[in-house]
Amino acid sequence: MASGENKPVTAIYPGSFDPVTNGHLDLIARGAKIFDRLVVAVSQNLEKDPLFAVTERLEMLEIVTRQWKNVAIGSFEGLLVDFARAENASVILRGIRAVSDYEYELQMAMMNRKLEPHIETVFMLPGEAYSFVSSRLVKEMARLDGARDLKGFVPALIEERLRAKFS
Ligand code: PNS
Repeated sequence: MASGENKPVTAIYPGSFDPVTNGHLDLIARGAKIFDRLVVAVSQNLEKDPLFAVTERLEMLEIVTRQWKNVAIGSFEGLLVDFARAENASVILRGIRAVSDYEYELQMAMMNRKLEPHIETVFMLPGEAYSFVSSRLVKEMARLDGARDLKGFVPALIEERLRAKFS
C-alpha cells in the first residue's frame, strides 16, 4: 500500500506477545499483505509479570515469522509513538477480536493520536477461528493442564516452549 506520495508504508504491530499466538500470526499475515513493511514490536513494559523474557519472545517471533520477508521483529521501551517515529512508521496496527477489546483499543488509539497526530491506528479483525485466542488463556491452559493439546492456538514451537516453562 502506498501513501499519496507513493512512499513505502511501514506499520508497527505492538504488543506483549507473551507468547505469540496463532491469532497474532493471522494478523501479521494480513498486515504483511497490505503494508510494505511490518515491524512486530514487543513492549518491554515492566508492569506486567511476563512468563517469557523479552529475549525469548523476540526469538520465538523471529522463528515463527520467517516466512514473511517484509516483517521485522523489534522491541521498545517507553512510548510506542516514539518507537514508531524512530522506525519511520505511519501506522500502528492492532487487532480487535470482540467488542470487549474495543474500549481499551479506542482509548489507546486516541491517546496515541494525541501524542503523535501523524500516525494512524489501523484495526484489523483476525480470522474468526482466532476470535477467542489470547496469550493469557493459552498460558492458563498450559499451566493448569501440562498435557493439553494447544494445536490451533499456538505454533508447535510455542507449545514446546510453554510445556518447558511449566514442566
Ligand atoms: O498485547 P498488549 O499487552 O495488549 O499490548 C499493549 C501495548 C504494548 C500495545 C501498550 O501497552 C503500549 O503501547 N505500551 C507502550 C506505552 C505507551 O505508548 N503508552 C501510551 C499509549 S496509550
